[in-house]
Amino acid sequence: MKKGILLSGGYGTRLYPTTLAMNKHFLNIYSKPMIFYSISILMLANIKEILIIAFSKDIQSYKKLFGNGERLGVKIKYEIQDFPGGIAESIKIADKFIGNDDFSLMLGDNFFYSENLTKILSAAVKKLSGAVVFAYYVKNASEYGIIEFDKNKKVKSIKEKPKNPNSNFAVTGLYFYKNVAKKMISKIKPSKRGELEISSLNNLFLKNNKLDVEILGRGVAWLDTGSYEGLLEASNFVYSIEKRQTLLINCPEEIAYRKKWIDKKMLLKSANNYKNSSYGKYLLRISKESLYY
Ligand code: G1P
Repeated sequence: MKKGILLSGGYGTRLYPTTLAMNKHFLNIYSKPMIFYSISILMLANIKEILIIAFSKDIQSYKKLFGNGERLGVKIKYEIQDFPGGIAESIKIADKFIGNDDFSLMLGDNFFYSENLTKILSAAVKKLSGAVVFAYYVKNASEYGIIEFDKNKKVKSIKEKPKNPNSNFAVTGLYFYKNVAKKMISKIKPSKRGELEISSLNNLFLKNNKLDVEILGRGVAWLDTGSYEGLLEASNFVYSIEKRQTLLINCPEEIAYRKKWIDKKMLLKSANNYKNSSYGKYLLRISKESLYY
């Protein structure tokens, strides 16, 4: 799979007043902006063509961070979604970008961490027959898309933010789709809140027996970054690991360098761009190390 959509708009109302002034995806999770974590996930899935969909007022800022992607050895394009028409609407917006290819869709505020993530992602791409989604056991089930199981523990449906959830398995914001999703999107209707829900699309795949639900187990962290508390918790999580290992989590420049998508010269250019920050110093450090881990 070579293409990925990174959905990075939204009002982020749970983070007001901060997000009245700026998009939440630029807020820091400890050592780097939130959007660095999600773009890294796409890169770890070996996706090298990325479409960032955002509010028009934020596109310039995203371009400041990523430009055309050359700095990360990937191709980055931009499209606008100024009205919240739903996550599934992004597939319509991305129509031209997707073309005839299969694609991944990633919500820019989703935070994943696991040593096995690369394996999990490539296994998902391999088994893709229609759609692959990931489920994660959570406490606050009514805040997410939730997997409903029948008596035989078979997936029955996905309910978007149910008042009385029948399980604790939330659908995370990372989805893999066959190209047919583009056609299927025309069959779904806006929900009560007027949005094209991604859960409606996933339910359609389920109806056609083409939905794979992968359970992410205890060795995986999937954290909420949409509230003050969640942001702090995610920052503390990253801080603990980065402080102990002195290796950064989801550093896109490092991922590109280790995958040999960029050379040392390009890595040093980024290091220089970030000047005196610890992030810049880290890039400088890995450019000098010969040991790959
Ligand atoms: C969206 C999806 C929901 C999913 C969640 C994951 O919710 O609609 O199904 O569980 O992302 O982050 P929203 O972020 O719009 O509340």
